Amino acid sequence: MAFPDNFVWGAAAASYQIEGAAFADEKGLSVWDVFSHTPGKTWNGDTGDVACDHYNRYQEDVQVMKQIGLQAYRLSISWPRILPEGVGKVNEAGLGFYDKLVDELLEADITPYVTLFHWDYPWELYCRGGWLNRDSADWFADYTDIVVRALGDRVKHWMTLNEPPVFVLVGHQAGRHAPGDQFSDRHIARIIHHVLLTHGKSVQAIRAASPQPAQISWALNTDPSIPVVEDETHINAARETYWGLSNGFWNAGLWLDPVLRGEYPQAALDRWGEYLPIREGDLEEMNQPLDFVGLNIYRGHYVAVEEDGGSNIRSDGRPELEGFEEGYPLTMMDWPVTPEALYWGAKWVNERYGLPIAITENGLASMDWVAVDGAVHDPNRIDFLKRYLRGFGKAGADGIPLHAYFQWSIFDNYEWAEGYRKRFGLVHVNYQTQERILKDSAHWYRQVIESNGAIL
Ligand code: NOJ
Repeated sequence: MAFPDNFVWGAAAASYQIEGAAFADEKGLSVWDVFSHTPGKTWNGDTGDVACDHYNRYQEDVQVMKQIGLQAYRLSISWPRILPEGVGKVNEAGLGFYDKLVDELLEADITPYVTLFHWDYPWELYCRGGWLNRDSADWFADYTDIVVRALGDRVKHWMTLNEPPVFVLVGHQAGRHAPGDQFSDRHIARIIHHVLLTHGKSVQAIRAASPQPAQISWALNTDPSIPVVEDETHINAARETYWGLSNGFWNAGLWLDPVLRGEYPQAALDRWGEYLPIREGDLEEMNQPLDFVGLNIYRGHYVAVEEDGGSNIRSDGRPELEGFEEGYPLTMMDWPVTPEALYWGAKWVNERYGLPIAITENGLASMDWVAVDGAVHDPNRIDFLKRYLRGFGKAGADGIPLHAYFQWSIFDNYEWAEGYRKRFGLVHVNYQTQERILKDSAHWYRQVIESNGAIL
């Protein structure tokens, strides 16, 4: 295992999932405020109105991070907190919150990694067509400029968008996330094009406004293909599966090729070309140099090569039987535990694009509660993280440049449509009293950080 000396150990969270104060200090509505208040959309009708009340408790929360020894904290900024209407008038109180948070982090010697968009799209702009409207890219570039001008003297690390396939597809195709639309492929392709353009324009806006050389990426979710046997046949099959378009709009190459190579994969053009509203210069705009690739990885799928030369991958890109035998370990999200996912995710992406890799999210929802002794024992989280981190360390040992690792999440928080019933945190949150308790995994993670991964 090899984590380089300058490797960065952190944890992550996102604005709507922890801040609360959803209607405070002139903040505008986001699509999530509206969606979570629509009956039947979230588990138990849970909303992010209060969440972890981080907006009011950020000082205490930074002390908790310091106690865990975090070197970096990945936070996101709420666009409608800064611009209540998405464009136009700046809300100084909103900007002030992030200003104070950044100072508090730096004071605690924790490097802020700032994500500009983690799904809380301004409601006012949704009413103007949202991501279907090509102007989204310019609206976002203007918002980027405002944030970077305000924080760029102290913030060096930026991520434009969090998990674009999820907010596009779960939010606009499956309709299970805000804004809850169920569009056809034609509209989804249009949205994807606008989202990729938005990323490119935002990167340019960061570079233009940052008073210091910025480190920029985005955070792409991906479920890597894992060869069941590490021989050439299986490795090649897994690589082909990963970049092949069998998982449609979810395919990593559809999102990464325009951004890192300035082109859509040919298979994507063959399939959706007529729907993609490509204008001259768009691909060049999308293709801005990045400093690392941020990947959110929770699970992968195993690729097996059958004796007849076929593989176990179905036409929708999922493995037959998910490749998992009966009784296979699952997290509380029912996601399979696949520790090799970080190794293969880092490998596929680095071998194609050559950039350093940061894991911008990894973790699990586990069954955590406060025990009779007052502590929160979460051995499954420790075991899960240990296994996955070993996989990431193996990528380092293989010579893949590793930049950072962000555990998801620093706190239990609002798990979107799943509400508060799924607990992803290193720190337990009592939503009635807002008491924070470091779980066993938080104490363990502190040692991981201190030893730069040596105790893994
Ligand atoms: C992905 C998202 O970025 C984050 O918001 C979510 O809570 C975690 N994964 C867990 O599902």
